[in-house]
Amino acid sequence: MNRIYMDHNATTPVDPEVRGAMWPFYEQEWGNASSIHWAGKAPIDAIDTAREAVCSLINARPRDLFFTSGGTESDNSALLGVAFALKERGRHLVTSAIEHKAILDTADCLESLHGFEVTRLGVDSKGRHDLDAFRASLRDDTVLVSVMLANNEIGNVNPIRAMAEIAHERGILVHCDAVNALGKVPIDVEEMGVDLLSISAHKIYGPKGAGALYVRKKTPFEPLIRGGGQERGRRCGTYNTVGIVGFGKAAELCAEQMASGSNAAVASLRDRLEEGLLERVGDVEINGDPSSRLPNTTNLSFSGVDGEGLVLNLDLKGIAISTGSACTSGSLDPSHVLVALDKDPVWLEAAIRFSLGQSNTEEQVDHVIDVVATEVARLRQIQQSASA
Ligand SMILES: Cc1ncc(COP(=O)(O)O)c(C=O)c1O
Repeated sequence: MNRIYMDHNATTPVDPEVRGAMWPFYEQEWGNASSIHWAGKAPIDAIDTAREAVCSLINARPRDLFFTSGGTESDNSALLGVAFALKERGRHLVTSAIEHKAILDTADCLESLHGFEVTRLGVDSKGRHDLDAFRASLRDDTVLVSVMLANNEIGNVNPIRAMAEIAHERGILVHCDAVNALGKVPIDVEEMGVDLLSISAHKIYGPKGAGALYVRKKTPFEPLIRGGGQERGRRCGTYNTVGIVGFGKAAELCAEQMASGSNAAVASLRDRLEEGLLERVGDVEINGDPSSRLPNTTNLSFSGVDGEGLVLNLDLKGIAISTGSACTSGSLDPSHVLVALDKDPVWLEAAIRFSLGQSNTEEQVDHVIDVVATEVARLRQIQQSASA
C-alpha cells in the first residue's frame, strides 16, 4: 500500500482547487494589493472576496477580521494586543495548561517581561475544564481569558460559550484559539460570544503561512505588527495575496464540505480505526474525552510501547501519525497536554495521535489497524525480552 497520512491536525494537503485559485496571483496578478494603479485592483478585490469567505465560515463581519501569517501570529497578537491595550486596567490573564505553545509561550512572555500574572487552569484526567474552578480563577484585575476551542493533541472540544458567559459577567474579554477546530466543528463567533478568535489556513486544506484573527468591534487592541497601515492598521505589512486567496478558497470549500456531512464521514472512519485498535491490541487507553471530541482525532496509549518508537516504526511502513503536536515533536519531553491530564508515566510515553482527514479511506484504516497491531505486538515482545 502507498503512503498513508493520518496527521491532519499537524497540517493538511493543499486542495487542488485551492492551488488553482492561488496560481494566477503568482503568475499574472502579482501586484501589491495596496497600489492604487491597475496592478493592485485584482489583488485587493480577491482579498476582499477571501475575507468574506473566511468570515462567513465563522459568522464574523469582514471589518472585524484581519489576515496574519498563521495561527501562531494570531495567538501572539491576541494575547499581546489585548494585554498591552489594557495593562493599566489589570495585569492578570487566565489560560489553561493544555493550550498550544503559541499561547503558553506568549503568556510566559507576558509574565516574565511585562509584569503580568498568569493563571494556567488545570484539567481533569480526561482533559476537561471545571467551570467552578474557572469562575474562581477570575479576579478584579483579570483582563483576558484565553481558552482553545479544540485541543490539537487529544481533540477535546471545550465549553467556550459557557466560559465566555462567565468571563463576560465580570467584564473580562475572551480569546479562543480555534486553529484546530476550524472545519471540524461549527464555529460561530456570535453564538460562542468570544471577543477574539484565531484561525489558520493550513488546517483546512489551505496554504501554510496564512491565518486570521477575529477581533470583535470595540475590543481594546494594540497592534503587534506596525508599518504601512494595512488591515486598518491592525496588522501591517504587504498583503500576502496568494496565501489569503488560498485561505479564502479553502474556507469556501470547507463550508461546502461541512454542509455535505464530510465530518460525519471522517468520524465514522476514526471510530472504525479506534474500535479496530481497541479490539486487536490489548491494554490500550483512550486519552481525552470521547464524549466531546473532534470528529477526526483519537489519541491512544498502548501500554509497554514507546510512542515515539511506534511513530518511527510506522513511518518506515509509510504511515504518518504523531505523538502529539508537530510543533514540539523532536523534543524528548512528554506532551504538556498529557502531563496536565496527570497520566501515569506508563501511559504518558506510550501515547500517539491519529488525526484523519478527507483523503482517508476504509481500506487505509483497515491497513493501519493491521500494521499497528503487528508493530505493537513486536515492540512489546522486544520490551519483554529486554527486561527478562
Ligand atoms: C491549537 C493550535 N493553535 C495554534 C497553532 C499554530 O498555528 P500555525 O501552525 O498556523 O502557526 C496550531 C498548529 O498546530 C494549533 O493546533
